[in-house]
Amino acid sequence: MSKKIFFSGVQPSGNLHLGNYLGSIKNWVDIQDEYQAICCVVNLHAITVPQDPSELKKKTIEVAKLYLASGLDPEKVIIFRQSDVPQHTELMWLLNTITKTGELFKMTQFKDKSGIQENGVTEKISVGAGLLNYPILMAADILLYDTDLVPVGEDQTQHLELTKTLARRFNNRFAKERALLKIPEIFVSKIGKKIMSLTEPNKKMSKSAESPNSRIELLDKPEVVRKKIMRAVTDSENKIYYSDKKEKAGLRNLLNIFSIITGKAPEEIAVDYQDKGYGDLKKDLAEELVEYLKPIQKKFSEISDEEVLDIFEKSKRTLIPRAERKITELNRAMGLE
Ligand code: TYM
Repeated sequence: MSKKIFFSGVQPSGNLHLGNYLGSIKNWVDIQDEYQAICCVVNLHAITVPQDPSELKKKTIEVAKLYLASGLDPEKVIIFRQSDVPQHTELMWLLNTITKTGELFKMTQFKDKSGIQENGVTEKISVGAGLLNYPILMAADILLYDTDLVPVGEDQTQHLELTKTLARRFNNRFAKERALLKIPEIFVSKIGKKIMSLTEPNKKMSKSAESPNSRIELLDKPEVVRKKIMRAVTDSENKIYYSDKKEKAGLRNLLNIFSIITGKAPEEIAVDYQDKGYGDLKKDLAEELVEYLKPIQKKFSEISDEEVLDIFEKSKRTLIPRAERKITELNRAMGLE
């Protein structure tokens, strides 16, 4: 029997950080033997906000290198560049025609990035239509390959609910007898699902946040990791315990990160440090992180651009015929062929 499929992706729109890794890529690595993994560098999503073309090209290769450096095995996993498979945008158009604009305006990510609220109030004058249609392209990515599972961070669950809605709607309208689009399952890990900013711990860690001190980037040098962790915002109580309290968001985030990288429960770590200060916790966490990132960084430095471009070429040849078959089926169902 063939393996179930998982599909996921990261935008090459900035420097990958611990949130991208712990919320998403690490989970791909963990399940890569169980599933047929399809891991995409979503460069078409990245251009929904302005990008410098040569930088985008470089970052696209860098993201694929980080996939490999994180432990994805290119012999088993299909790693590819979204723009190499034109059927993603073709399916996006088909799905566009069954999506309601109201569904798109409701998306939290769109509201955050555009400043446009559901009631039409806007703070920013010029927002690209690509940003509004972003979730449709995401649905196309997933539905094109009969994906069973989508491992992502928590911030993407709303987009994935829309993906499921669109698949059901398509099947209801055009494929009543035999569903043509598979309804995927969402996979969000328990602790890594939302890594918070180090400087504003009530916001998620993000590639686009202005301050680089807000995130640990996967390629940060040891001294930079140490500096950022030591400066991480906590609270003035100076008491170490694991709690849901809003004031403890900074400490909770550090304990969560500590927990994922050591495999120890965050509550247990809190007990280990209950008689110590934040400085002690931060110092140890920084050292753990430096060691954790070391093998990823070493492997990253050993991968050449050519190696990645070869992988992109091979993946393209594997995926296009498969994607073409799917589009033909869907076109027929819609009366286009
Ligand atoms: P991107 O590049 O914004 O995020 C990539 C992945 O990282 C997760 N993530 C986080 N997880 C935990 N804590 C954080 N602070 C954090 N920040 C980001 C995201 O949830 C995501 O899993 N739209 C997608 C890319 C995409 C995609 C797809 C994913 C395009 N098509 C199809 C799955 C399936 C995104 O958020 O990229």
